[in-house]
Amino acid sequence: MTFPIRISITFLYLVYLVYAGITAFAQETYHEFDNENPIWSDNEGIHINAHGGGILRVKNRYYWFGEHKSSGQNGNKAFTGVHVYSSPDLYNWNDEGIALEMLTDVDSKLQKGAIVERPKVIYNNNTGKYVMWFHHELKDQGYSAALTGVAVADNVTGPYTYLDSFRIHPGVWPLNFTKEQREKAEKLFNQQEINLNDYAAEGVFLIRDFNEGQMSRDMTLFVDDDGTAYHITASENNRTLLISKLADDYLSLTNDYIRVFPGGKNEAPAVFKRKGKYYMITSGLTGWNPNPARSGVSDSMLGAWKSLGNPVQGTQEQEKTTFHSQSTFIIPVAGYDDAYIFMADRWKPKNAIEGEYIWLPIEFEDGIPILKWYAQWDLSFFEK
Ligand code: GAL
Repeated sequence: MTFPIRISITFLYLVYLVYAGITAFAQETYHEFDNENPIWSDNEGIHINAHGGGILRVKNRYYWFGEHKSSGQNGNKAFTGVHVYSSPDLYNWNDEGIALEMLTDVDSKLQKGAIVERPKVIYNNNTGKYVMWFHHELKDQGYSAALTGVAVADNVTGPYTYLDSFRIHPGVWPLNFTKEQREKAEKLFNQQEINLNDYAAEGVFLIRDFNEGQMSRDMTLFVDDDGTAYHITASENNRTLLISKLADDYLSLTNDYIRVFPGGKNEAPAVFKRKGKYYMITSGLTGWNPNPARSGVSDSMLGAWKSLGNPVQGTQEQEKTTFHSQSTFIIPVAGYDDAYIFMADRWKPKNAIEGEYIWLPIEFEDGIPILKWYAQWDLSFFEK
């Protein structure tokens, strides 16, 4: 009888090995957003590396694009590129690799070691192309270049072909900058010994950068229901936002642009549309450190934006720090009515790859967006 026993032991051992193998590779399935968990794992159990991100939905799948950070002090520089993940449900993310690769060509502006931040991707119905825009700083020049960059792809996950990076609107005045304002700003700019930052609201940076083109740093994109797309960016030395209409193919900016909240020091813009109105959530200007968020509303993208104040409702600490985070994007959730997710980063500048994510549902009180803390939550929130 020893023979059958040996067979069954061998059999059981094999079953165990197969089971162990399967569980080792089996993926945890997530059913909620866990804002208290510093690690948001992808399908391979690795912390998602897509900071300052944005989301595009294509054929029932969400694609999350973001900055691929590396470990250590230099981790905020781009050595790899823009990472992309995909998900059917917003909870479980599949690593789709690098959508836009940094280049080894040291003559390219997009060479490794440059800064690539806040990439956003939109789909152009006319051309069938995916278009990525991002904040781009040149290698070893800190944040002084202040460029916006653009890349294009045939497939949503890439590879994206880098086209160019540039200052915006050289030689063009904003639509809402009157002749009187311009003359006043010119006079101020020509005065000796003024600190330009003190007169940013009046438009002195517009005068300074008129020929070379305006600065573009923290940015986002927004596509309206009629397919018109907009580039929204922190300009004028981060003092004033500029909203520009993109060309029909989304590959360049048209001359139609406006100044928003002049001198308001808004960064990290995220835009969404609800019930015919356009909203934005932004941060203040404190680098990697969190600060109180702001919000605004307008009847049209190139219209008059009105400030709505801090959207955060919570403890003093939460209101002062936006839950220790900075806005990056607002996701309109498909399949639900009135469902928007505020996507934010908790930066870790000393080891950027450890940067964390928090996602919160946007609530509304009298048409004003409100953010409250939910440690764990799921999309059934929007069924209420
Ligand atoms: C933040 C900005 C980030 C990054 C950082 C650099 O204010 O939102 O995207 O540029 O400054 O200090």
